[in-house]
Amino acid sequence: MIITEDDSGLPLPAAGGKATVANRVAGHAPSAAPDPVLVEKMRREWDTRAKENARYYVATAQQNWTDEEYFESGRQNVYHEILTDMGNVCQGKDPKQMKVLEIGCGSGRITRALADVFGTVYAVDISGEMIRQAKEALRDRPNAAVFQNSGADLQVLGDIQVDFAFSYIVFQHIPSREVIQSYVRDVFRLLRPGGLFKFQVQGDDSLMTAPEDTWLGVPFSDADAVALAESCGFEPRHRHGAGTQYFWLWFFKP
Ligand SMILES: C[S@@+](CC[C@H](N)C(=O)[O-])C[C@H]1O[C@@H](n2cnc3c(N)ncnc32)[C@H](O)[C@@H]1O
Repeated sequence: MIITEDDSGLPLPAAGGKATVANRVAGHAPSAAPDPVLVEKMRREWDTRAKENARYYVATAQQNWTDEEYFESGRQNVYHEILTDMGNVCQGKDPKQMKVLEIGCGSGRITRALADVFGTVYAVDISGEMIRQAKEALRDRPNAAVFQNSGADLQVLGDIQVDFAFSYIVFQHIPSREVIQSYVRDVFRLLRPGGLFKFQVQGDDSLMTAPEDTWLGVPFSDADAVALAESCGFEPRHRHGAGTQYFWLWFFKP
């Protein structure tokens, strides 16, 4: 496992990890393990993209983002997906007391905005170059800590507990159901009971995807999404955007 320790001053979770709780969810056999060759391909290709033009590959609306525009776009995402949904996200908790997790943080576009809303933000990404740039972007956000992870799980975070988990325009790039399921299981392990994992997957199954393509990820039908939640112990309470690129899932931990 590749671990890039954060230097933000936040307490660092212990490296390594234990068997996941979700592995033991009654009645659901774990799926096949993620393919390590594919995971390394994802890391290599995202590192290449990050070195070429990280901001463009994170948000393809522009080739040459200014700092202001780039981070404002992240604030807009947080406004639309989180601040308008605080009942589900916080469930009465004070956001400044909450610990939250972001999967696939890229160069910190959304992470900065999350750090302005929540007490503590932990974020992971498969790409070392994205993480390097995210650290730069978060130098003035001491409540955010970013880590390069394995590309398929959250073991790098040890046993921390989070109140809310989030991921946007990340799983839409992952071509493997095993990898996505592995993440969902590991979020279940780290999320406090009652907590929400809100994330977006590719819902458009008319796309020509390939098992080794690290740009166009595997699509999920509504039934796939329900099966994914149930296989990992989650309740798929809300779903929005089935059949489109922006298929949003609200998975609650019972
Ligand atoms: C389009 S960018 C989005 C970044 C960020 N979520 C945002 O909206 O600003 C996708 C990110 O997912 C990361 N990523 C791709 N596959 C991943 C994986 N298997 N595990 C963790 N991160 C991954 C990439 O390195 C990249 O930073």
